[in-house]
Amino acid sequence: MIRKAFLTFCSAGLLLSAQAQTPRIYTIQADKIKTPIQKTMYGIFFEDINLAADGGVYAELVKNRSFEFNMPLMGWTEHKKDGGDGRIEVINRSAERPENPHFIKAYVTADAGSFGLANEGFRGMGVKEGEEYSFSVMAKQNGDANVKLHVELHGDNDATIGAADLTPTDKEWNRYSVKFKSSATVKKASLYVWLSGKGIIDLDMISLFPEHTWKNRPGGLRADLVQKLADIKPGFLRFPGGCIVEGRELNNRYQWKKSIGDIDKRTNIINRWNTEFKHRQTPDYYQTFGLGFMEYFMTAEDIGASPLPILNCGMACEFNTGELVPMDQLDPYIQDALDLIEFANGDVSTKWGKLRTDLGHPAPFNLKMLGVGNEQWGPQYVERWKVFTKAIKTKYPDVKIVSALGPSPDGKEFDLLNTTFRSLGADILDEHYYAAPKWFRDNARRYDNYDRKGPKIFAGEYAAQSVATVSPENKNNWECALAEAAFMTGLERNADVVSMASYAPLFAHVEGWQWTPNLIWFDNLNSYATPNYYVQQLFSLNKGTDVVPLTLSNDVVAGQDGCYATASLDKNTNELIIKFVNTGATAQRVSFKLNGGSYQKQANVITLSSDNGSAANSLDNPKAVSPVQSTIAVNGKLLSMNVEPYALKVVRLKNK
Ligand code: AHR
Repeated sequence: MIRKAFLTFCSAGLLLSAQAQTPRIYTIQADKIKTPIQKTMYGIFFEDINLAADGGVYAELVKNRSFEFNMPLMGWTEHKKDGGDGRIEVINRSAERPENPHFIKAYVTADAGSFGLANEGFRGMGVKEGEEYSFSVMAKQNGDANVKLHVELHGDNDATIGAADLTPTDKEWNRYSVKFKSSATVKKASLYVWLSGKGIIDLDMISLFPEHTWKNRPGGLRADLVQKLADIKPGFLRFPGGCIVEGRELNNRYQWKKSIGDIDKRTNIINRWNTEFKHRQTPDYYQTFGLGFMEYFMTAEDIGASPLPILNCGMACEFNTGELVPMDQLDPYIQDALDLIEFANGDVSTKWGKLRTDLGHPAPFNLKMLGVGNEQWGPQYVERWKVFTKAIKTKYPDVKIVSALGPSPDGKEFDLLNTTFRSLGADILDEHYYAAPKWFRDNARRYDNYDRKGPKIFAGEYAAQSVATVSPENKNNWECALAEAAFMTGLERNADVVSMASYAPLFAHVEGWQWTPNLIWFDNLNSYATPNYYVQQLFSLNKGTDVVPLTLSNDVVAGQDGCYATASLDKNTNELIIKFVNTGATAQRVSFKLNGGSYQKQANVITLSSDNGSAANSLDNPKAVSPVQSTIAVNGKLLSMNVEPYALKVVRLKNK
């Protein structure tokens, strides 16, 4: 463990800035391009886990807005004031509205005062002083009723920090909305909906959104969280999962067609992470699909990422029920895949292209890849994969199919899929690794001997686990992030084989998570980037366009003295980029012989380091481990620098 090494080092009374006696001389051949780096190389993987969507990036503040949780009033409480009285009935109209069966019938039974209900939000509601909020509701007055609504935002100590009035007028369902400002910044506000005037009113889709969202789209996404994604400049966005694609059972699989269009027609389902871990039960975790496929595609487009949807292939999660769709009933699943491609790329003359146009996006989303299954394994997957692949390739030969290699990077299941898919000429193989930091350091050469003519590799989910996979004690600490950086030099060196990579999972609510570690943590108001995020960001922003050789005694740099390195050219900016990782407890004095280029006298350096492997960022200290900029002199054809212990350094040298 780094921490142990660090303590030993310090107790010996030595200074960490001590330099190795003999500088290592590395050689870079900037005029010998090894391979281009795909634009997709470093991307992001979004899954609705840890309250990532509802309660997270989807900015809706009301939990259980349409009363579709198993306990339809979960998140809501009834209240009375000033002599008011009433009661609530939960109505199930499933025959009429199977996609949104529940609503509430509120009986206001007293002439005076108010009767109402309050929503607690997702671990509270985060609201900001001076910002505007939009309250909306589907409502229907019953008979001659003229029930009035008074909405209030309650902050700390139950103080009213925003309010508005609204009177639904129709005897048929209609949507009403009103805006108001919050007079305070509060992390755990709640929303009260007071009803007054004797009578009966039906209510559904009770919603509160900030006006300020990502690109200020109404009913949109949390701007601070999407900005963090944009700041990575990801090459692709893999969505919507993960295991939620599969569902614990097939009934709860992700169905993209149910995630588009009017939000009151998107069928809510339980989130499969609701009950997954006994130690992190989340009984109030559901999927409203307010963040649905249209929003995923648009977000990908906004942040310049290639969309990579993953679809259910007729299999529920094999860690759970492993339910299978019989082979002769696979057609609807395959049709979903074909229709999705048409939805993304078809023009207005096609059925699904027209729907996309009608939803406000006439331009295609330029879908080039599609995942068939998430993390499947076994012959039952191969059987289904073959049918999917044939159907997709027949109609859309240019769409690349991402094929799963199971949950582990080795072993019987991995070998079976790896051999089979290679023999079947698969396009892209999706490898997942959740392992100890040591595994990442030891596997920097993993792809050095992969078949250069075989399928491309997508490192679709990976993260170093400080304790053990699925342990709630895992931390996003510097030891893990640095190990990932070491490993990523190996991904980049092998960019002719590895075309995409993404850390997993992406988001976690500090009070609502099930899985750790995660790339970005947030509460209702703020968020912070982990050291792992900064590693991802540094690699992505500095990937360059082409790999060039960086060697030590004619060998790649993958663990010698605990050091790892890669070099690339950026043909767009005419720069040479060096990424150097020192995972050791000793500072390194390194020199690079710069062959094949002629560089300006000063280079830019970004350093991410900490002398403590346990160091982590937090909401209170978000930049404990974060990049630091500096410059360094370049001496003609030689660049020499000190690399601190436990450091990732990125150097950009501009050609003259
Ligand atoms: O990232 C968390 C989970 O890990 C994903 O849902 C699944 O694909 C993997 O097992």
